[in-house]
Amino acid sequence: MTLSEKLTITEVAPRDGFQNTSTFIPTNDKIRIIERLLQAGIDSIQIGSFVNPKAIPQMRDTADVVASILPRFRAKNLSVLVPNERGARFAVESGIPEITFVISVTESHNRANVRRSVDDAFAELATIVSSDSYPFDHIKLDLATVFGCPFDGITPFELVRARVARAHEIGIRDICLCDTIGTATPRQTRAYISALRSEFPDIAYRVHFHDTRGVGIANTLAAINSGITRVETSVCGIGGCPFAPGAAGNTSTEDLVFLLSAMEIDTGISLEEIIAAAKFVATVVPGPNTSGHLIHVDDDKMFPRGLYKIVK
Ligand code: COA
Ligand code: ZN
Repeated sequence: MTLSEKLTITEVAPRDGFQNTSTFIPTNDKIRIIERLLQAGIDSIQIGSFVNPKAIPQMRDTADVVASILPRFRAKNLSVLVPNERGARFAVESGIPEITFVISVTESHNRANVRRSVDDAFAELATIVSSDSYPFDHIKLDLATVFGCPFDGITPFELVRARVARAHEIGIRDICLCDTIGTATPRQTRAYISALRSEFPDIAYRVHFHDTRGVGIANTLAAINSGITRVETSVCGIGGCPFAPGAAGNTSTEDLVFLLSAMEIDTGISLEEIIAAAKFVATVVPGPNTSGHLIHVDDDKMFPRGLYKIVK
C-alpha cells in the first residue's frame, strides 16, 4: 500500500467485545462508548448483532442501540452482524443499511456457532442476497475460522477457497477473513490473501485478527503489505467468540492506530482520542478478553513532553 492511501478501520468492539463480557453492559454505557468511538474519527463500526438472546444474552439490546445511534450518525458506515434470516429481518426493521452475515469455514465451528451446516448457512445467505424483502445497501460476509479452528486445527487453504467460491457464486463481493481464535501467522496471512486476490480479484477483502499469541499486529501488517486496505479491530482489544474456547481479544484499535500513525498511514482517527476512549472502555467493560497494550502505558511518566508529538 502506498503511504498516501487511506486505511479504513472498522471498529468491532460493540459487537465482538460486548458479546463476550462476563456481565451485561448497560445499554447507555454501550451507547456512550459508541459515541466516543465515532467522535474519535471512526467512520465504520459494527454496533451489535441480531442473534438469539438465549445464545448471546449480551446482545439482546441491539435494537435499542441502533435506535439511539442510527438517527444521529447516519453518515457513518454502521452495521450489525446477523447469523440467519430472522436476524436479517430484525435488521431491516431497525433501519440499519448494512449487515454482516457470519459463516465459519469449518463445519464444526459453524455448527457450534450458528447450529447449522455450512451449506444451510450459505443457502440462507443466498436468500437474503436475492430477496426484495431484505433491501440492504450492503451485505458483507464474515468468514470465521479462516486460518484456524478450535476443533479442527489449522484450516486448509482449499477449504477457504471453496467457501469464497460459494460466496462469490451467490453475489458476495465483500468478505472479511476472520482469524477467530488467533492462530494466523504473517506467512499464512500473506499466502491466503495473495491466492484469494488472484483467484477472486473482484472481491474486496478485509481482515480481522484475534491476538491470542501476540501476532495480531504483525498479521495486520502482513495483510496491509499484501494489498489489504480495510481492517477490523476492537478498542481496548476486547473481543472473542463465546463458541471459540481459548481465544483472546482482537487486535486493538488504539495499538494499530499508534503504529499506523508512526508509519504515516492515514486512518482518519485521532490517536489521542482513541486512546482516551480505550481508557474509558477499560473502566466500563468487565474483562477478561483484552489484548490492548496502550491502555496500560502511562505516557505522562514516560514521555512528559507528549508521546504523540515525538512518535514520528
Ligand atoms: N435473533 C433473535 N432471536 C432469534 C434469532 C435471531 N437472529 N434467530 C433465532 N432466534 C430465536 C427463535 O425465535 C427461537 O426463539 P424461541 O426459543 O423463543 O422460539 C430460538 O431463537 C431458536 O430458534 P432456531 O431457529 O431454532 O435457532 P437455533 O437455536 O438453531 O440457533 C442461531 C441458531 C443462529 C439463532 C443461534 O445459534 C445464535 O444466535 N448464535 C449466535 C452466534 C453468534 O453471534 N456468535 C458470535 C459472533 S460470530
Ligand atoms: Zn472476532
